[in-house]
Amino acid sequence: MSSLKSPRLGVNIDHVATLRQQRDEGYPNIQRAAKSVMEAGAEQITIHLREDRRHIQDLDVGLVKEITDEYNRPLNLEIGSNLDIVKYAIEMKPQWICLVPEKREEKTTEGGLDLGVKGFEKLRNVMSELRSGIDGVKISLFVESSEEVMNKSIELNADAVEIHTGSFAIDYLRNKDISKHLESYKKSYELLKGSDVHFHAGHGLTDKSVIPLLELKLFEEYNIGHWIISESIFSSLGGVTQELLRSFSDYKFEY
Ligand code: PXP
Repeated sequence: MSSLKSPRLGVNIDHVATLRQQRDEGYPNIQRAAKSVMEAGAEQITIHLREDRRHIQDLDVGLVKEITDEYNRPLNLEIGSNLDIVKYAIEMKPQWICLVPEKREEKTTEGGLDLGVKGFEKLRNVMSELRSGIDGVKISLFVESSEEVMNKSIELNADAVEIHTGSFAIDYLRNKDISKHLESYKKSYELLKGSDVHFHAGHGLTDKSVIPLLELKLFEEYNIGHWIISESIFSSLGGVTQELLRSFSDYKFEY
């Protein structure tokens, strides 16, 4: 029997909440989104509880977890190192936590974690708090691809690194040379080989830019959000308009 496996897909549904927060009328419903993604076969759902609560709200974490639990698949909760959020994450007990850097003024997570002396110590403390608060939690670190960062991630006993693919994705979209990114991913993968740190990727990826990464056959897991949510508009915008027009046609009058 073949042991070949496809990489796992985690779908980030933050931007369903972004749309909901524009009006705050309860739709689009986050549980409905989570269920669609699970029904479609995604291996996990990823959400980011940001300090500024610009999309995912505290209550969403439990709501989404209800759905992932129903399907017996992991919830991957992204958080920064803010103490209140760490405490809340412990209460929520997701199966995976992805630690990310967070700046209030950024549009999205702009780079990997700082693993310099101070950053390293802070992460070590947060990781130990999470591990003692959540039985069996797996922790991934959202990082840039570099030798130093891979070595520090091993030292921190991370369960995985999630390589920030943002700059690769932008270079791909702008038709720039992507070989330096691919080379760096290969090197990072080699450095982690033989350790217990798994190799994940995410940020800015589309159906097209993910292909050169899939071809590398190095990343076990991809977390993709913005493009999936954007593209799903076009897979049903026409259909939803037609449905509404059908119900309009039941109410003809002279004007
Ligand atoms: N992985 C991490 C750690 C992220 O912070 C994000 C963005 O929230 C993603 C994956 C998904 O990125 P995108 O929405 O650009 O696909």
